[in-house]
Formats: sequence, C-alpha cells, structure tokens
Amino acid sequence: MRRLSPEPAAELSESELLAAYPRTDGPLLRVNMITSLDGAATLAGRSGSLGSPADQDLMKRLRMQADAVVVGAGTIRVEGYGATLLDEPAQAWRVAQGLTPHPRFAVVTRGGDIPDKFFADPPARPIVLTYASAPHAYPDAAEVVDCGDSSVDPGVLVAELAARGLSQVLCEGGPHLLGSLVAADLVDELCLTVSPTLAGPGSVRIVAGPPSAPHRLRPAHVLTDGTHLFLRHVRAR
Ligand SMILES: NC(=O)c1ccc[n+]([C@@H]2O[C@H](COP(=O)([O-])OP(=O)(O)OC[C@H]3O[C@@H](n4cnc5c(N)ncnc54)[C@H](OP(=O)(O)O)[C@@H]3O)[C@@H](O)[C@H]2O)c1
Repeated sequence: MRRLSPEPAAELSESELLAAYPRTDGPLLRVNMITSLDGAATLAGRSGSLGSPADQDLMKRLRMQADAVVVGAGTIRVEGYGATLLDEPAQAWRVAQGLTPHPRFAVVTRGGDIPDKFFADPPARPIVLTYASAPHAYPDAAEVVDCGDSSVDPGVLVAELAARGLSQVLCEGGPHLLGSLVAADLVDELCLTVSPTLAGPGSVRIVAGPPSAPHRLRPAHVLTDGTHLFLRHVRAR
C-alpha cells in the first residue's frame, strides 16, 4: 500500500498503516464504506465484489482499532456476517495495546429479523440496538439496548455505546444506517474505498433514506494498492 497524499510514500509498513487510522482521545464515529467509480455501493446486490485483498486488510485494521463495530440489519442479512470479526494475530495485537481481544459487534434493527449466525458462538457479547416499543425476541446472550421509545435515535445510539465504554465506534454501513448517521451529523470520519469499476445504472449509493443537509469533511489521506483508492476524510473543525 502506497500513500499518494498528503506526502507520497512508497510501501507503508503494517504499523504505519495502523497508525494511519488512529484511535482518538475523545469519542469517534468512524465509517468504512466502498463505492464504484460511478457511485454504486453494490455489484449484483453485494458490496464484497467491489473490494480487493487490500480492502479486506483495511477493514481488519479498522476493526482492530474499534471498541464496537456497528452494522445495519439489512447488511447483516445480505452479507451473512458471522459473530467473529478478527483472527488471532489481530486479537493479539489488540491485547498488546491494552484492548479487549475482540470489539463488541452491534446490529441496528427495528423489526428484529437478525440471522442466527450473528449470535452464534460470539467471542464478545453481541449488542442489539433497537427501541423500546420494538419487538424484543433475541437470544439471552445478546445485550438489547433501547435507543429511543418509538424509533432508533442515532444520537442516543452513540451515547448508549459510549456509556458502555465503547467510544471508538466503527460503522460498516449499510446505506440506510449511514444515511441516518449523516442526517444526524454524527459521522466523524469516513474511510471510503473507491473501486476501479463502472457499475452502471441500477445500484444504491452508500447513503439511502430521506434527504438531509450536506456536511463537509476534510481530506486526511489517500492511499492506493495500485488498483483501488483508499480515502480518509475527517470532520472539518
Ligand atoms: N458499499 C458499502 O460499503 C456497503 C456497506 C454495507 C452494506 N452494503 C450493501 O447495502 C445493502 C443493504 O442496504 P441497507 O440500506 O438495507 O443496509 P443497512 O442500513 O445495513 O440495513 C437497513 C436495515 O437496518 C436497520 N436500520 C438501519 N438504520 C436504522 C436506523 N436508523 N434505525 C433503525 N434501524 C435501522 C433496519 O433493520 P430492520 O429491517 O431489521 O428493522 C433497516 O431495515 C446490501 O446490498 C449490502 O451489500 C454496502
């Protein structure tokens, strides 16, 4: 992986790559998404086919830095996430940093249709982020957190995670969840992989939902593996 901006640098080491996505002293809501050149969030309904091995490595590094990984239920249903997010070397790295071996894995849902696989053999207690009047039928092992009375309030969601000591949050989408976080102006950082692909008409963007006000972010770096671009933008202060 090379850095194109701000200062060009050839072949970044693993520690340099981890340092390029640091934990912060204060709360952080970091989002990781992928897009095609023409703005598509999926190919044939999945995001994975836009990616590359370097994109998978980046996702792992971001998970290594996180206290909690938050994903919308639609993405869990389509992408088929299991409960374990990190391999043993990544767990060992976290422990060496004084972190728990695994980030907490949280799903955001209204309806509660979460595949069993999400709850199976979890290495850390899974979290269901929902609201008080929603149906609550989850395995006992899950921690169910109400983030509002009649809907999930994104600000309450972030505050509830912080109240559990989970202040470094990585959101991996999908588009409806990201749309609600953007609308509430909660995104501190967007890590966006740009795939060298023209997907053509018919796909969703990385955000979905009702229109909301725009927010500007500040470019922090651009990396490349030779095919994909890895953009990091942070909240403009
Ligand atoms: N390009 C990328 O980086 C990327 C990343 C992730 C996913 N994707 C793709 O996106 C597609 C899925 O899109 P999606 O928009 O359905 O994904 P999503 O945002 O992960 O899921 C939508 C569902 O999540 C729950 N949810 C999301 N936001 C919520 C909120 N603010 N309050 C309460 N519940 C909320 C609801 O679950 P319930 O229906 O359970 O109530 C909602 O139906 C898949 O094709 C996936 O491959 C792309």
